[in-house]
Amino acid sequence: MPVLEGKKVLLGVTGGIAAYKAAYVVRELRRLGAEIEVVMTHAAQEFVGPLTFETLSGRPVLTDLFEKGKMVGVRHVDVAVSADLVLVCPATANILGKVARGIGDDLLSTMIMVAGPHKTLFCPAMNSSMWANPAVQENVSRLKEMGFHFVGPDYGELASEVEGVGIGRLADPQRIVSRAKIALLHSDVLAGTHLVISAGPTEEPIDPVRFITNASSGKMGYALAEAALTMNASVVLVSGPTNLTPPDGVEFVRVRTALEMHDAVVQAAKGAHGVIMAAAVADYRPAEVSPQKIKKNGDKLRLELVKNPDILAELGEKKENLCLVGFAVETENAIANATEKMRRKNLDMIVVNDPTQEGAGFYTDTNIVTILTRDGQEIALPRMSKFEVALHIMDEVAVLLGRKPPRFRQAIEV
Ligand code: PMT
Repeated sequence: MPVLEGKKVLLGVTGGIAAYKAAYVVRELRRLGAEIEVVMTHAAQEFVGPLTFETLSGRPVLTDLFEKGKMVGVRHVDVAVSADLVLVCPATANILGKVARGIGDDLLSTMIMVAGPHKTLFCPAMNSSMWANPAVQENVSRLKEMGFHFVGPDYGELASEVEGVGIGRLADPQRIVSRAKIALLHSDVLAGTHLVISAGPTEEPIDPVRFITNASSGKMGYALAEAALTMNASVVLVSGPTNLTPPDGVEFVRVRTALEMHDAVVQAAKGAHGVIMAAAVADYRPAEVSPQKIKKNGDKLRLELVKNPDILAELGEKKENLCLVGFAVETENAIANATEKMRRKNLDMIVVNDPTQEGAGFYTDTNIVTILTRDGQEIALPRMSKFEVALHIMDEVAVLLGRKPPRFRQAIEV
């Protein structure tokens, strides 16, 4: 079942050049199963036609408070009340000003007024001079005090050729989708729980321009961080080099090598309740890193490798109450090998995936995993998105931490 099935999103599009990026947000949220009702202001329709959003949302776009045939009676009130999330993307200075001052003079501002602060997420986008304007800043502070949520704006290239770059760019649409997912699935199951999650590959330098790495994209680890945030955990995400945008709300630590990942994870684990290692950490690194680019001399080049510290095994040696979760990449005798790894590293749980299966392991958006627990549970999940896998794993972590009784097990054992 798509993770956002049954969730209702009211997406307000206001008049800025970033309006076209809202199309991606609608498509992604719909792909995840959400029902999207799009409301466009008049100015927004100057930038993108309603047909784009009608096609992507599969519903007529609402544009007017008094439009014949569409708004019957107090339907705008019903739509706003029943929405699980009101996402204003992009949000102009104008809509922020209106809502901050309690003005409801068109369909969208009226609907936001009805929905209230706690389920409204603004994604501001404007030129940097406008964003810096004291009136805008005052409105933003006022809205935050009232409990409205914000993502962005970001620093980056702006539409204005004179300004070039600055603060005011719409937050990365991936980050907006991630925030929307977290808001829509919010629970307090892991409130007060500190988790360290590792993601991505490590890079082990050979010389200034070459390194040894692996195929991890970081998708599994970043999905775990998002899933933990939906349960209101506080998350330190220690990531090797990836192209992904860290989810809003994590404490993000970027590392390159296995040694750096070791230091960052061990440091962050102090005082944490759990460590989940989805990173593909290099087992070996070059014994020496050449300070200069190695020249092509001769037909062979011998590279001596030395062992990296095993981060999980080290944490396992002195784990006390720390909940430890590992991943295992196994291509044969998966369950037996992973069980042995869990025992050897003194883990509470291990998640085994076989990258030779289609749709599993490295780089793909999906995974096929079996969750093994120390107390003998063996939960085989069918192929599903990495985010769904992550929700199941976090559910089991919550069980291990005594935060909840098993919930999905009956439904997912296959
Ligand atoms: O990033 P993606 O493209 O989404 O791909 C996801 C994934 C395949 C990388 C992920 O699902 C996964 O399986 N991660 C663990 C990969 C791995 O290194 O497995 P392993 O069997 O070699 O290691 C076992 C465990 O020990 C892992 O949790 C690993 O993080 C940890 N380890 C390994 C080596 C080391 N020096 N220190 C460690 O802590």
